[in-house]
Amino acid sequence: MAMAPRANERGYENLTIKPSLVDAAKVAAADDYEYLRAFVHPLPGWLVDYAAIRILDLLAWQEQNAIRGPLFEIGVYHGRSLGLTLRSALRAKERVVALDTFQFVPLETVKTGIAPIADPESIVWLQTSSNVCSSRQLLQILGADPRFISIDGSHECDDVFWDLRLAEDMLAARGFVAVDDFMNMVAMGVNVGVHNFFATPRNLAPFAYTSNKLFLCRPQLAPSYRHAFEQMVVADRIEPRSPRLIKPCGVNCLWLRLDKPRPRIELLIFRFFRRVSQQKETTASPDWPAR
Ligand SMILES: C[S@@+](CC[C@H](N)C(=O)[O-])C[C@H]1O[C@@H](n2cnc3c(N)ncnc32)[C@H](O)[C@@H]1O
Repeated sequence: MAMAPRANERGYENLTIKPSLVDAAKVAAADDYEYLRAFVHPLPGWLVDYAAIRILDLLAWQEQNAIRGPLFEIGVYHGRSLGLTLRSALRAKERVVALDTFQFVPLETVKTGIAPIADPESIVWLQTSSNVCSSRQLLQILGADPRFISIDGSHECDDVFWDLRLAEDMLAARGFVAVDDFMNMVAMGVNVGVHNFFATPRNLAPFAYTSNKLFLCRPQLAPSYRHAFEQMVVADRIEPRSPRLIKPCGVNCLWLRLDKPRPRIELLIFRFFRRVSQQKETTASPDWPAR
């Protein structure tokens, strides 16, 4: 595997994220919106605030519930969603592994961009394609089962399928996954990859969807995550989108908007989620290498 993990030079043992050499105090003090404005918005990318706020909420919920473990990003670009991951890892003193081909943004540029948040040399950078990585190799680098995995690398359906298989194999028992660009019409590969993945019984289940992000966790944890997510939306007094999201009609947490007629895609997804929620058993896929 053609990886270039600079942090490996110092070894992976005990490697945890270190605060920024510049703005550590500001990172620690900022509330979520200040943090987005000061540290995430300056980084180019597509991550929208609503998804960012919900991910910050979910990561904070993990911290409050003593859910520990490293955090893993597939697809970094300039590091927008990495900025969310770093904040939680800094608070919990955990390891962050960031994997990208760095074909569009050179690694040195990414490091400069995120330097106000965290010491770039304390992040484990993997310059490779995720589809040549096995879960065994990645777990060795992560050091433990990850509590958060962001899937936002290649948007080709086979690659998305592979990344989901990695997540299924590696995710910590109480962790969650964010899959970007699900239900984004310009990313059909993601949609096909996700549907192919859930065409057979899986050890991951969707618990929420918003702003192009599909959230997954272990099936046993789905009710807890779903409930926590609902509480976050209900408690949200800032985002105009929150009051428009309602609890769905008995399916596996599909959020419907009431302010406009339900489009056809939502009906299709309704059926998809119902099928997923009806899957009672999970089986290991025979072609998947053991850890
Ligand atoms: C949509 S961008 C990621 C955006 C980022 N998550 C953010 O929040 O701004 C997709 C990234 O995936 C990377 N990428 C493309 N194919 C990949 C692959 N096979 N393995 C890993 N990364 C890949 C690209 O280099 C690009 O930086």
